[in-house]
Amino acid sequence: MRESIRSCHRCEVRKAYDSPVPCAGSVTAPVMFIGEAPGADEVEQGKPFVGMSGRMLRSAIEDAGLSCDDDVFITNVICCRPFNNKFPSDTYPIDMCMDNHLLTQIDIVRPRIIVAVGGQAHRWVRGSDVGITKVCGGWEDWEVMADELTVRYLPTLHPSFCMKGPDDRYDNPVMKLTSPERVELFRAHIASIKDELDELEE
Ligand code: URA
Repeated sequence: MRESIRSCHRCEVRKAYDSPVPCAGSVTAPVMFIGEAPGADEVEQGKPFVGMSGRMLRSAIEDAGLSCDDDVFITNVICCRPFNNKFPSDTYPIDMCMDNHLLTQIDIVRPRIIVAVGGQAHRWVRGSDVGITKVCGGWEDWEVMADELTVRYLPTLHPSFCMKGPDDRYDNPVMKLTSPERVELFRAHIASIKDELDELEE
């Protein structure tokens, strides 16, 4: 799985920085986090979510009572850093990466919970056009692979969104939150994973 990401040359995104970043965490983890795409820090260290956003995510996971090594698997919708960190607008590389890597990872790990981190992850993983600020924190059952795998699904905010705010241009309560309030909301979403997991394991 990791080697097939490292050696992938299927699309154009790799060409910008020659930067495939394999997934991390345990393949038997009950919880899978799916982010958008690696950034410069992730490329340098060869691991997803290790920069500023990663530190926020990983500390929220540990504070929720989950281990980043044993309880979670961390990956991205696309495995290469896009040019200038701009998520591709062309659907081809995204579909290609998801079909060849993300779906394989889901099939191997078979998590009980999938968490989409940020708007692009929610849009692509869940196939939804509803904005992340409207749905974040809302748990649902989701049949990922027709009949074969049903998970509990949680869309949450991206840590980089939590570092900004407030934005009063929108009539949307989440957009109006200050950065510390967004961080608090994000951490509450991550904390809810432990309760959800405990319930699933009862
Ligand atoms: N943001 C993401 O969405 N993924 C990473 O791996 C790092 C930052």
